[in-house]
Amino acid sequence: MTAALRARIDRRCAAGPFVIAIDGPAASGKGTIARRIAAALNLDHLDTGALYRAVGAAVLEAGGDPADEETAVAAARAIDAARLDPATLRTDAIGEAASKVAAIPAVRAALLAYQKSFAAAPPGGRGAVIDGRDIATVIAPEAPVKIFVTADPAIRAHRRYLELKDSRLGLTEAAVLADLEARDRRDSGRSVAPLRQAADARLLDTSRLDIDAAVAAALAIVEAVLD
Ligand code: CDP
Repeated sequence: MTAALRARIDRRCAAGPFVIAIDGPAASGKGTIARRIAAALNLDHLDTGALYRAVGAAVLEAGGDPADEETAVAAARAIDAARLDPATLRTDAIGEAASKVAAIPAVRAALLAYQKSFAAAPPGGRGAVIDGRDIATVIAPEAPVKIFVTADPAIRAHRRYLELKDSRLGLTEAAVLADLEARDRRDSGRSVAPLRQAADARLLDTSRLDIDAAVAAALAIVEAVLD
């Protein structure tokens, strides 16, 4: 990354919070890209999937049904969004529960204010990279940079399989692909804030990119948008 890009980002941040919105389906690479470009540009990072995962995890822990509105909304109202540990929430069972609670409009409503205020006033005072499913469409539609990260389903399933295989004996890549496709269908088909590429978002297909190349491609998009 060039010093010139950093200097331009610094100027943009001085003029008001600078937001980069990153959306995409499961295991597309959006989370790692978001974390890495936030570090490179000295911006805050918000992983909004962790909010839905925290709600899903809380419901599972209490022995509840993630699709039950009353239970899921109570869990969404009770989480402390500023104090989550995303690393503890990355199991496939929690991902599945997250996508069920995320389809409930009142759960999304309960998590909206925190995300909107993070975008409007990032804690570090400069700007934020926010990743999820509805960032460019709902949370920060005014963000100057919007990136939709995607990859072929089979490649995403392979990546997720490698991530999960040590913690799940007997897991197969075919099972991971089936889960991922079911989750994509639920995320894209729900009535509120479905997963979709915003009209003005740039598409970044990571199917043939390793993570360093994907991060470089995302930074190139940021640079191109600022030109
Ligand atoms: O890492 P991965 O892409 O598998 O999932 P995640 O980003 O941690 O999100 C978990 C689930 O939360 C997704 O399947 C969505 O159903 C939901 N989610 C959402 O609805 N809206 C967001 N902004 C972020 C996540």
